[in-house]
Amino acid sequence: MIKVSAPGKLMLFGEHAVVYGYPCIVTAISERLEVSISKIDDISMDRRFVDAAVRAWGDGKNYAFSIKSAFSGTYGFGSSAAVTVATLKAMRPNAENRALFDAAYKVVLDVQGIGSGFDVASSIYGGTLYFLSGGKTIDPLEIQNLPLIVAYSGVKSSTVEMVKMVREKRNKYPDKVDRIFQAIGTLVNQAKKKMLEGDWERVGKYMDFNQEYLRDLGVSSEKLETLIGAAKNAGAWGAKLSGAGGGDCMIAFVPPERQGVVKDAIMSAGGQVVAVHANAEGVRIES
Ligand code: MEV
Repeated sequence: MIKVSAPGKLMLFGEHAVVYGYPCIVTAISERLEVSISKIDDISMDRRFVDAAVRAWGDGKNYAFSIKSAFSGTYGFGSSAAVTVATLKAMRPNAENRALFDAAYKVVLDVQGIGSGFDVASSIYGGTLYFLSGGKTIDPLEIQNLPLIVAYSGVKSSTVEMVKMVREKRNKYPDKVDRIFQAIGTLVNQAKKKMLEGDWERVGKYMDFNQEYLRDLGVSSEKLETLIGAAKNAGAWGAKLSGAGGGDCMIAFVPPERQGVVKDAIMSAGGQVVAVHANAEGVRIES
């Protein structure tokens, strides 16, 4: 019996544009998903990723799984990537990170057809990464504590549907959408620099700019805007949706002395604040 855990993730900058070759910044979070191989249990989550992972690295053996997820009830933390990574690692504990990334990314693409792989990289490497689609670049950023607040909007979103919607928009208005992607790409590079300097106030500003671009892409929602507005009004340095949009989570960068007030404001506006730490450890063998 082997137990492996992998972290969830939060996209800090660059969602959607990353699918088209621009960089993004992602951080691993303290909420983890655990896969134990050997005993049969109730698997209440989407089994497609586990089954595809077993087909990829299962050596033709029969496996039984127990899966425990700290993500249940909160969508957008990347459970598909985490369960794929943890399952593959449980089957080949000695696999190198790069081999694990290539195999896990292939599984995710086989199952859902779309995705940059940033969530897979986050689950494997942990920390905070500067990432290019398909893992062309996976650069860890030397960052200590991120002054991050996370809230679930209460609305589950479909990444695949949102990515398809953006693709249709790009087919219809290629110049406009490509200009937005380019602007997001530039912003991600500026944000990376300021994150390395620890200039959180400036990073917050970039979050606001990124949110404006996401709004222009049409992936924000009324609920997300309400939560983002509440965080801003209560003194956040910056706030944005995180991930595909349409629902799932929002994030805010908040000065330490305003964290309590901002959390209260988000909750009063109908958000569910989730207590997570950023920059968490990547996939690991627990026992
Ligand atoms: C979804 O969490 C982030 C997207 O950029 C899709 C992806 O990168 O796979 C919208």
